[in-house]
Amino acid sequence: MFGARVFCFFSLNDMEGDRTVAKDKEYLFIPGPTPVPPQVMTAMTKPIIGHRSGEFSRLYRDLVKKMQKVYQTENDLFILSNSGTGAMEMALANTVNPGEKVLSLVTGHFAQRFNRIATVLGADVDTLDFPWGGPVDLDMVENKLRQENYRAVLVTHNETSTGVINDLAALGQLTAQTDALLLVDAVSSLGGADIKTDEYQLDLVVTSSQKALMLPPGLAAISVSSKAWERVEKCKARTVYFSLADYRQLIAKGHTPWTPAVGLLYGLEAALDMILAEGLEEVFRRHQRLAQAVRAGMRALGLKVVAPEECASPTVTAVWAPEGVNPDELRRFLREELGVYMSGGKGSLAGKVFRFGHMGYVGEFDIITGLAAVEMGLAKLGRGVQLGAGVAAAQELLLHTLGKGGRKG
Ligand SMILES: Cc1ncc(COP(=O)(O)O)c(C=O)c1O
Repeated sequence: MFGARVFCFFSLNDMEGDRTVAKDKEYLFIPGPTPVPPQVMTAMTKPIIGHRSGEFSRLYRDLVKKMQKVYQTENDLFILSNSGTGAMEMALANTVNPGEKVLSLVTGHFAQRFNRIATVLGADVDTLDFPWGGPVDLDMVENKLRQENYRAVLVTHNETSTGVINDLAALGQLTAQTDALLLVDAVSSLGGADIKTDEYQLDLVVTSSQKALMLPPGLAAISVSSKAWERVEKCKARTVYFSLADYRQLIAKGHTPWTPAVGLLYGLEAALDMILAEGLEEVFRRHQRLAQAVRAGMRALGLKVVAPEECASPTVTAVWAPEGVNPDELRRFLREELGVYMSGGKGSLAGKVFRFGHMGYVGEFDIITGLAAVEMGLAKLGRGVQLGAGVAAAQELLLHTLGKGGRKG
């Protein structure tokens, strides 16, 4: 599955010294960008078409319908040619006027980014800071919503910096009883975790392509509820490139206001077809099961996962480095010696944790590979681990949770 990451073009010089074909193979376990399936890579080589053509309209409309299925929504939805941060900015710039009150729920690095965008756009931001490594405290949110009339609540569904997932159903229920819109950053969860946009009453949900959607970076998406549209109509949007009104005006034609990333949209078609063919339930089950295997493996190595089990993310696991081990040294060894890429800690977790991404185009043996690499890294750094212990724990779990379907062929 990592075939797409293998470099096929090398010169004889590349073969000199200690570089070998096997050493050119890389394994991407960062929480985005994630590995891209060969079907998606191939789809992106199709000839580019004009974005004002009928062919483009058919492609775009079809993509919106498929994406709505993954979002589990009938709300309007737009596919954008920018990264997820742009979509977060779009959600805020079109719904909140300067000086209006916003409640920002901060559980880690990416929630801080949402907070920063709101502040830069001139909102009057009330911040509820929760300890990094835990979820949003719903009672505190409820109290705040009772005390103040907010225009928007900002939440990071899956906090990629800590590996914690928040309860969107509960937050949706709380917010829907107020005038506030619920703005959801689902960048590292959509396509890997169950998000029932309509049932949970989520007003604006944003995501980006390079995570569970199995694409290269460059696309994002946003869904807009009818409650959100009412607000958009009253809001003096301070943006041109991210104007929701401009997107809305052209959606009936199947066009986008600005030139879209056509090649990536071909890739999105292939990726969404893969997700829908597997079936959403199965996709979510796969992510849960693989994440459980990662956590079981880490525990068997005596390592501690940052997130408590009940709010552990299905797409990324942050792990405390054991006493005496610098996680960045561990990552350097994995990268330089084994070609295995994992991420480090962000903000207050920098130098304390490493993060193992397991979303999108992932299967059992990716988890085994990642865990085996961590074991080798820890052994190399002088930490007494029993090689194979983490792998064995993951294998046990995977073996006992096999699906009914089996593989093709
Ligand atoms: C939870 C979360 N929000 C936002 C972002 C930012 O998305 P992008 O890098 O696509 O702008 C990321 C990226 O890692 C993320 O994980």
